[in-house]
Amino acid sequence: MLIRRRPSHPIQPSAITQPETFAQRRQLLKAAMATGIGLSTNLAHALVKPQGDGTLIPNRIDTPHGDGLTLTAYENITRYNNFYEFGTGKRDPFRYAHTLQTRPWVVKVDGECEAPGEIGIEDILRHIPQEERIYRFRCVEAWAMNVPWNGFSLMTLLKRFKPTSKAKYVAFETLFDPEQMPGQKRSVLDWPYREGLRMDEAMHPLTMLATGVYGTELPNQNGAPLRLVVPWKYGFKSIKSIVHIRFTDKMPGTTWQQMAPDEYGFYANVNPQVDHPRWSQQQHRMLGDSFFARKQDTLMFNGYAEAVADLYRGMDLHQFY
Ligand code: MTE
Repeated sequence: MLIRRRPSHPIQPSAITQPETFAQRRQLLKAAMATGIGLSTNLAHALVKPQGDGTLIPNRIDTPHGDGLTLTAYENITRYNNFYEFGTGKRDPFRYAHTLQTRPWVVKVDGECEAPGEIGIEDILRHIPQEERIYRFRCVEAWAMNVPWNGFSLMTLLKRFKPTSKAKYVAFETLFDPEQMPGQKRSVLDWPYREGLRMDEAMHPLTMLATGVYGTELPNQNGAPLRLVVPWKYGFKSIKSIVHIRFTDKMPGTTWQQMAPDEYGFYANVNPQVDHPRWSQQQHRMLGDSFFARKQDTLMFNGYAEAVADLYRGMDLHQFY
């Protein structure tokens, strides 16, 4: 995020899983389930060639959410990342995130709630139905992706811990373990990575905790085993590898806002009318497109205005960026 570089897409077109492959896999899995024929896990893996270990997400519900968006190739979603815990280069997370151990994995939930406690990722995967939703995901540096995430509405998890009326915000933290996340040995950020949402944003049905992508468990570089996705906000709100969720009555400090408050706000809503001080936010390029491809106009709230604009009614979005 700090250094502005033009993406030099290192992925050769020949290496890209075409979106049709995903659609075919969806259909194959559906057909196999409908006829009662078990599809061998290996075959399903081969169809998506994942860089995670390829474990299929259990308990999946196929939703039409986002159907019609042209999917970004799996290889682009998983090889061009921001995850400073593994280095500041876009290719570093794909190369180095294998040192992260995602089992066992426990998320602690506390603060302003009646039932603080812990929940393991296995319980989440087994007991919370995982929806497949295609969301547009836009980073602040003007590239965007259409990602088929698997996961569930954050509110499903939050409600279990019974937030009280004092809970006005939700704060999130990534794991801090410099042995597993060697980037944390350098002070490029104030570790651990922190993010936050206002309570109504956190309880909005579009706000998702993602556990997978393209039907398989999240690869480490994308924030395994659990990461936030808020489709109407810039990508840096999507905190990865979450271990701590806290309900609070005060707006929590967040990593990028603390690093560069003039450049990154708490709200971080995608807004073509509010430029980043060093670049325009009016247009973006889809990840994987050629450098010469026409840029697309960025939409208010990333195209989700109908669903979320009410959350910000009456607020000056130039002030609360
Ligand atoms: N979460 C943690 N823990 N560390 C990070 O460096 N980078 C953020 C966000 N979540 C980051 C993080 C930024 S700047 C972006 S744009 C997105 O993750 C990138 O998500 P992706 O790599 O899955 O595309």
